[in-house]
Amino acid sequence: MANINLKINGKNQTVDVDPKTPVLWVLRDHLGLVGTKFGCGMAQCGACTIHLQGNAVRSCMLPVSSAENKEITTIEGLSESGEHPVQKAWIEHDVAQCGYCQAGQIMTAAALLKKTPHPTDEQIESAMQGNICRCGTYLRIKAAIKTAAN
Ligand code: FES
Repeated sequence: MANINLKINGKNQTVDVDPKTPVLWVLRDHLGLVGTKFGCGMAQCGACTIHLQGNAVRSCMLPVSSAENKEITTIEGLSESGEHPVQKAWIEHDVAQCGYCQAGQIMTAAALLKKTPHPTDEQIESAMQGNICRCGTYLRIKAAIKTAAN
């Protein structure tokens, strides 16, 4: 165990955990930030996507020690009250079906638009290809990203 200093959603937090603990477990089990979901646990599905220094990353295989003192943003911290353009577009397009993967989808989309405010179809497909949705909401996801980009 070790004290690890984290900057999560603009707040400094210290957790006493094994440094190899994946960030996902720290968020959910130690800090109560359960918006980030566990899907595969093998960096394959995207359900656990967060931002690390503004980049979309899989938190299920990211050791907490490698996130120390870096800016972490979770779905809870993306906006104060669901007012991020991506969240608003998600509602407008009624994207979610079961909803389980959607926090990860939104975090990946938000990271894309931050770096590429007006992405092409190919850039959207490339950025989103690692986020799996078993309900098949892909067309609505793409439409919502285009709305958020305008
Ligand atoms: Fe992390 Fe699937 S739970 S990528």
